[in-house]
Amino acid sequence: MPVHDIHSYSNPLESRVTHVELDLAVSFREKKLRGAATLALETAGRTLVLDTRDLNILRVNGSAAGFTLGPRDQFLGSPLTIQLPRGVRSVVVEYETSPQASGLQWLDPAQTAGKQHPFLFSQSQAIHARSWIPIQDSPGVRVTYSARINVPVPLTPLMSARIVRPGHFHLPQPVSPYLIALAVGDLQFKALSKRCGVWAEPSMLDQAAREFEDTEKMVQAAESLYGAYRWGRYDLLVLPPSFPFGGMENPCLTFATPTVIAGDKSLVSLVAHELAHSWSGNLVTNSTWRDFWLNEGFTTYIERRIQEVLYGRRRSEMEFAIESGELEGELKELKPADQKLVIDLSGRDPDDGMTMVPYVKGALLLRRLEEKHGRERFDAWIRSYFDQFAYQSISSEEFVAFLRKSFPGENVDAWLHQPGLPPDAPRIRFDFGSTPTHAWSTQEWLHWLRAQPAGLSAAQMSEMDQQWDFTRSGNSEIAAQWLLMAVRAGYRPAYGRLEQFLVEVGRRKFVKPLFEALVKTSEGRARAEAIYKKARPGYHPITQSTVDAILR
Ligand code: BES
Ligand code: ZN
Repeated sequence: MPVHDIHSYSNPLESRVTHVELDLAVSFREKKLRGAATLALETAGRTLVLDTRDLNILRVNGSAAGFTLGPRDQFLGSPLTIQLPRGVRSVVVEYETSPQASGLQWLDPAQTAGKQHPFLFSQSQAIHARSWIPIQDSPGVRVTYSARINVPVPLTPLMSARIVRPGHFHLPQPVSPYLIALAVGDLQFKALSKRCGVWAEPSMLDQAAREFEDTEKMVQAAESLYGAYRWGRYDLLVLPPSFPFGGMENPCLTFATPTVIAGDKSLVSLVAHELAHSWSGNLVTNSTWRDFWLNEGFTTYIERRIQEVLYGRRRSEMEFAIESGELEGELKELKPADQKLVIDLSGRDPDDGMTMVPYVKGALLLRRLEEKHGRERFDAWIRSYFDQFAYQSISSEEFVAFLRKSFPGENVDAWLHQPGLPPDAPRIRFDFGSTPTHAWSTQEWLHWLRAQPAGLSAAQMSEMDQQWDFTRSGNSEIAAQWLLMAVRAGYRPAYGRLEQFLVEVGRRKFVKPLFEALVKTSEGRARAEAIYKKARPGYHPITQSTVDAILR
């Protein structure tokens, strides 16, 4: 039983797109993609409805007539309704994107590592593919795709697909539209193993390859748990620091923030996470964003399992314990409806569902099932789940039905439909030390910093800084946490670093709490406004709208 997707205007039950062929030219001068999307239809009714946002539709099937573009909704964009002649099996849409496309960021050379060439990247999840491709933009409508991308020399285009030859791509596995991705820049490749490698700007390449050297081992660990990796290559692309997320699981090519390159591999669980999506998310996806936990909960659980194989149980339990603590903190702030795994997103942008609930409450549910049924049986069940639903998009109801086949009588309703954590939720215990030592891992430092009492004075901050040099930390997670404390304490010696950090880094997870803390005082608000004036032009549209809302 397909669940209706409230975040798409498309009509897949009447006319369904199954393959997309893109032929696009990239103009950095105009900040536009221009070209055509040829959509192959599996079933064709009278009309085909596509999602678009801020697209300029030039012609459909060679004609400027026979289609209508509906009014623009702030979250959903505009439906493109195309009259289908009887018997047609494909449609050609000629179009160009807007410089403000919500799913694209156009970077000036100054925003890149090399400072010589512009850069472009897409971020389609959750509903931004429609801002650069006219498509049925629902995770329940899977497509294969091929593309020809024209870029100015000497730049390199990359996509979430197999490279057929330079500029030509093909993804033969059907995926949800949010997984179609494009990046263009001065990029070079370094192999990590036969099937894994790193793409980055030349000056970042060696560092990145060292940081991510364990990638092949991670793929092997995941394969031994959940079966063969089905996407051919697994490569990583290091983006400029304005990338709004930590990572994005684009098929064949994970997009990653450079802020995970810490020099000591301490933040590479991000790779384990995005890799895990090759099973939970890219192979088996939520059919609507209501069931986002199926993607992120499974992925967070699998991330921990991969981490356990590579770095040991101590490290994986430590990260699980930290996350559980953060979840419990967040649950205190969230309204009850948003504490459920199955969430009601009507009238909202699905990006608002991105709390810790789908990630950590979802992972705790799977951990609970593992503990109850035993690791061996539960691992076999997860593997059969991926085989059963491979290349499909499913709902929580289908998850439950399949769970009950193997574990009759299992009831997870409270997890899915009640706020908070059910009484049977596992408690992840970890003994954190309370006296800092130079032997501490990044995660132990973060835990210790977050556990510092509220209301630290600037003098106390200064003492900690003299001892541990936090203001100059090269680790982005530690720096962001320290800067947050500096704002709260009014610790002036860190203000320079704060401004530099906020102007350079556009990762929403770091930027958002810093601006939220700044605006709490009138002096802070003035500084926030001054910093934002410099920082905003460099931020991604997603980060811009987050910070705009804070400063409004
Ligand atoms: N797919 C998500 C990123 C995402 C989610 C983008 C929803 C847009 C809408 C990705 O896999 C993710 O979860 N990234 C995390 C890092 C991870 C280690 C928890 C992030 O970017 O913070
Ligand atoms: Zn994820």
